[in-house]
Amino acid sequence: MEKLVIEGGRPLTGTIRIHGAKNAALPIMAASIMAEGTVKIQNVPNLSDIHVMLDILRALGCEAGHTGDTVTVNTTGVHEFHIPESLMSQMRSSIFLMGPLLSRLGRVELYQPGGCAIGERKIDLHLQGLAAMGAVIEETGNKVVCTAEELRGAEIMLDYPSVGATENIMMAAVMAKGMTTITGAAREPEIQDLQNFLNTMGAKIIGAGTDTITIEGVSELTPCTYRIIPDRIVAGTLMIATAVTRGNVTLEQISPAHLTSAIHVLKRAGVQITIHGDIMNVCALARPKSIERIVTSPYPSFPTDLQSQIMVLFSLADGLSVVKETVFEGRFRHVDELSRMGADIRVDLNSAFIRGVPRLYGATVEATDLRAGAALVIAGLAAQGTTVIEQIHHIDRGYEQIERMLGRLGAAIQRTSPVKTE
Ligand code: UD1
Repeated sequence: MEKLVIEGGRPLTGTIRIHGAKNAALPIMAASIMAEGTVKIQNVPNLSDIHVMLDILRALGCEAGHTGDTVTVNTTGVHEFHIPESLMSQMRSSIFLMGPLLSRLGRVELYQPGGCAIGERKIDLHLQGLAAMGAVIEETGNKVVCTAEELRGAEIMLDYPSVGATENIMMAAVMAKGMTTITGAAREPEIQDLQNFLNTMGAKIIGAGTDTITIEGVSELTPCTYRIIPDRIVAGTLMIATAVTRGNVTLEQISPAHLTSAIHVLKRAGVQITIHGDIMNVCALARPKSIERIVTSPYPSFPTDLQSQIMVLFSLADGLSVVKETVFEGRFRHVDELSRMGADIRVDLNSAFIRGVPRLYGATVEATDLRAGAALVIAGLAAQGTTVIEQIHHIDRGYEQIERMLGRLGAAIQRTSPVKTE
């Protein structure tokens, strides 16, 4: 198993371009099968989750490849509606194929993605939305079969603004008969990106980015070329890494508007942030200040996907901070690992009470999920001594060659492979 080895204590300095957003690319790749022909998606990062989505598209009959930052999908041969359990288990985002496959083939067979390291992660809202549009859903064990001779527009109210459910319902509604309205929709920028992509192919969607999305069904979509948005979570991770190493980093090709809550929190912690168009400079000269309380919740609030990382900043701040997690119930598994590095964190239900310490110390730790892994990398960059991070395949799901990205900013970080023995 590969590991990351970090010699901590070097401030991050320099300029770096932020890669495209995984969470925008995955639903957009899934949505591409609704148009017959060749779709090109640009600014797609080279990540293991993207490779799994390419494998799934191929299993459905597409020709799909990734060259440079462009994914090309020829969807002409799509004929298969069964998503193999082996691929489904590798990536929860396989459920994004539900709406598109129902729309294109009238049937989809897949498996419940099940729980994961950060929580239970049900798909009931996806299924309720599809059922409201006329899909018949049969669940046997963990297998889910959805069929629909015809999808019909519907008024769908989401009890919780689930990102994935909003996207799946949007995709199913694009070629449904009549109008669909989603109220209580999630407002994440990746949903706006999906709307823009689908509209470029001829869909008629308005409202993404607000809590009400309206979709007027169209009879067909036309393939297009589309460039996806920058990854706000990668940008946020680098902003926090810069802050804890007291560095000075310029991030290029970002969307500052998507980072409003992270910018607000970092400024309150004493970090200097200046923005010019799509360029942001982050500079930290002093120890971070503690913040009484931050709460993760759906966009535009502070994102759960930066919760683990911001906890590292508070671990090194000058007082007590509280972080409350409201999106995923099990998202504190990084706490034990950070504690091994000297952090002082107590968890009570879904709140973490973090008393800042003057320094963290290198240790051997394990990435338990994608963002927990990113948090450990940040902790390792700030820590005194050597940190070894295991189970880094989690990190490779969301950060393109993280060691190269940070190495360019002056970090002493290396990926090591195990020595092969006969
Ligand atoms: C997406 C992001 C993920 C991010 C999350 C929240 C992608 C590929 N992933 O995940 O990085 O952490 O948004 O910002 O875009 N829920 C239900 N029933 C459902 C669906 C969700 O109860 O049918 C619950 C989940 O268990 C969770 C909460 O709603 O507690 C949020 O989930 P959701 O917004 O759906 O997240 P994802 O789309 O899975």
